[in-house]
Amino acid sequence: MSKHSEIRNQFIGFFRERGHTHVPSAPLVPQNDPTLLFTNAGMNQFKDVFLEQGSRSYSRAVNSQKCIRVSGKHNDLELVGPSPSHHTFFEMLGNWSFGDYYKTEAILWAWELVTGVWGIDPNRLYATVFAGDDEVPRDEEALEAWTEQTGISADRISFHGRKDNFWEMGEVGPCGPCSEIHIDLGAEFCRRKDEPGHRCAVNGDCGRMVELWNLVFIQYRRDAEGILHPLPRRHVDTGAGLERILMVMEGVRSNFETSLFTPLIAQLVELSGEPYHSDARGIPHRVAADHIRALAFALADGVLPSNEGRGYVLRRVLRRAARYGREIGLETPFLHRLVEPLVEVMGNDWHELKERYD
Ligand code: SER
Repeated sequence: MSKHSEIRNQFIGFFRERGHTHVPSAPLVPQNDPTLLFTNAGMNQFKDVFLEQGSRSYSRAVNSQKCIRVSGKHNDLELVGPSPSHHTFFEMLGNWSFGDYYKTEAILWAWELVTGVWGIDPNRLYATVFAGDDEVPRDEEALEAWTEQTGISADRISFHGRKDNFWEMGEVGPCGPCSEIHIDLGAEFCRRKDEPGHRCAVNGDCGRMVELWNLVFIQYRRDAEGILHPLPRRHVDTGAGLERILMVMEGVRSNFETSLFTPLIAQLVELSGEPYHSDARGIPHRVAADHIRALAFALADGVLPSNEGRGYVLRRVLRRAARYGREIGLETPFLHRLVEPLVEVMGNDWHELKERYD
C-alpha cells in the first residue's frame, strides 16, 4: 500500500475506533453555498450542522476532504512554488464533533495519533492557543487540555492572535478559536539563519516550523455585519494536511519530495530536461506538479476552465502552470502529460480521476 493511503487509513481508522462515522469527501464544487467557489476545508459540507440549519444521524465524523484554496478568504496560490508545503489542491484529514465531545478529547486524540500511532517525536512538536482579543477571551480551556492531557511542557505552548488562532470559513459563517500542532523540521530548514538576531519561532516566517494540524473549536457565527453570535452548541472541526504528514513520515524536506509528488516531478524533469532543485530553481516544477492536481481534480468534479466564476479561477491556475512551464523550456502543451503519473499515484484512492481520465 502506498504511504499516503496508509496515513489516510490510519487517520480514518483511529477516529472510527472512537465512534466517528466515515463520511466521503464532498465534491470540490460546494453544494448550495453561494459564499464559496471551491470547497476549502473539510468542514464545508457540515456548515448547516454548525449553524443548526441541518442535522446528521451521527454526532462524530471523520474524513479526508479534497480542498482547493485559490480564491476568497483562503487563497494560497501565490505561495505555491516558493513554499515547500503549500498547495492549491490538497487533502485535509479531519474529525468533527457536532455538539458532542469538545476540547479535551480533540486535543488528547490529536496528540495520541501524532505521537502514538505516527510515532512523531514529541520533542519536535509545539502547540498554539488563542491569545484572546477584544472580541473573544483567551482560550483557557484549550490551554488546560494541552497541559493536562498531553504532558507537553509550558515552554512548547505559545499564544497567538486572530490571524493564526481564530479560524473562519469565510467572511460570514461558523468560526471559533483554534489550537494548532506545529513541527520543528530542524535548524537547517531556517531560511534566515544567517541574519543576526534572528530567532526561529512558531508562526514565524523562516520555514523551520510547519503547522501540521489545526483544531478549531466552533462556537460562533459571524454575520454579514461582522458581528459574532454564540452558537447554541459547541463543535469541533479539525484539519491536518495529508501532504505535510506524509513529508514528516517519509523523512523528506518538502511535500514535493514525497511519494505523492516525485512521479510528477520526474515526468517534468523528463519532459523539460531541467533537473529538479529544492531551491528557487525548482519553482516551475513545483508549480506545475501542484497545479495539475488542482486542475485534474476540478475537471473530474465537472469544472471546466472558462471566462467566469470558478471556471475563470481554474483558467488562471492553468495559465500560471503554463507560464512557469515556459521557464523550463516547455513551450508546447505539456500539462496533460502529467495526468498519467497523477492517476497512477492517486487513482486507486480517488476513482473519479480514473473514471474521468479521458
Ligand atoms: N477548518 C479548519 C481549517 O481549515 C480545520 O479543519 O484549518
